[in-house]
Amino acid sequence: MWNSNSQLFGDGKVVFFGFARAALLYALNLLGLRTGQNVLVPSFICDSALSPFRHKGIDIIFYPVHEDLRIDLEQAERLGNNSTCAFLAVNYFGFPQDYAAVTAFCQDRHLILIEDNAHGFLSSSERHQLGGYGDVAICSFRKDLPVPNGAALIINNPAIAQEALASMLPPLSRPRLSLTVKAIAKALDLRLGAHLIHFWRTLQRDDTALNAAQTHLMEEFSLDSYMEQCSLYTQAVLRLLNIDHFREQRRIRFDSWREHCGGSTEAQPIWNRLPESVVPQVFPIRAAEPERYMERLRSDTGIKASRWPRLPKVVRENIGDYPPFYTRVVTMPLDGEQAMRKPACFGSPDQIWRG
Ligand SMILES: Cc1ncc(COP(=O)(O)O)c(C=O)c1O
Repeated sequence: MWNSNSQLFGDGKVVFFGFARAALLYALNLLGLRTGQNVLVPSFICDSALSPFRHKGIDIIFYPVHEDLRIDLEQAERLGNNSTCAFLAVNYFGFPQDYAAVTAFCQDRHLILIEDNAHGFLSSSERHQLGGYGDVAICSFRKDLPVPNGAALIINNPAIAQEALASMLPPLSRPRLSLTVKAIAKALDLRLGAHLIHFWRTLQRDDTALNAAQTHLMEEFSLDSYMEQCSLYTQAVLRLLNIDHFREQRRIRFDSWREHCGGSTEAQPIWNRLPESVVPQVFPIRAAEPERYMERLRSDTGIKASRWPRLPKVVRENIGDYPPFYTRVVTMPLDGEQAMRKPACFGSPDQIWRG
């Protein structure tokens, strides 16, 4: 599926997928990356983002990020070697990296820049919409919208052989019906969706639930259940969404959280400033005691915060070598049924769709 002129994805060539990891696998094929080469990837990342590299046998060299989630380019410089061919930069929670510095770094070392914009759907910074800086970029709007799946690969570098695209599309299965049921229930603000899925899995008691649990543990190494087409339902939502309202609500809710957390010693916002062009995915904090903080928030307000990320296996196993904040990040929701159910803090869910 092609879309070269979308308001939502900037000027690059866009190919839609069900999941960003499938888009990334496709990008690696397109770029011709091979076993024996390596890619610089931040160590602060969710394990599932690594599955395409694992699948293709491409080595990963982890570089660290600072407490404000800026890339530590000095360390990255030290860590790369002659087999390094690409650099992956993450726009955490919709906040841009310093692309003047990152682009110069990659150009000087002839590295392909892969922009992981899984969280930054609708954000922009000085020159471009996010997703417009990398030679290629991925985004995952399924994380932002009540949709069953939805992600995209954006190809910005015109030198990348686009004529090869059509023949290189990986085989993608049809979207799972269970995810659509869940998304519709969520959009209607019913918690029924999760119960239906649970019921469905119980009925198929054989391998399905077991497989789901195992897949969850092995997400860093397995891609199979994510090679799905972008759902038609997702495409309709993208067309119908009132983007301006969506942007504004996210930003208002971010500010509400900032007020809520301001001055707290238990929870420090990662960013105290919300640049004009940023559409945040969540409100992230560093919590001194993440589990206790989340439990208190839940009992006081009913709001369920989450921890991010589930770190890569090798990072989890050597966590003492990494900055302590890696295990202390907690994210508060800015949309979805939870946030919408709290009118005093978050405003109402009307005007979500275009008039
Ligand atoms: C930074 C980042 N990149 C990529 C991905 C993969 O996205 P998807 O789940 O759509 O495959 C995730 C998933 O959580 C992520 O957080």
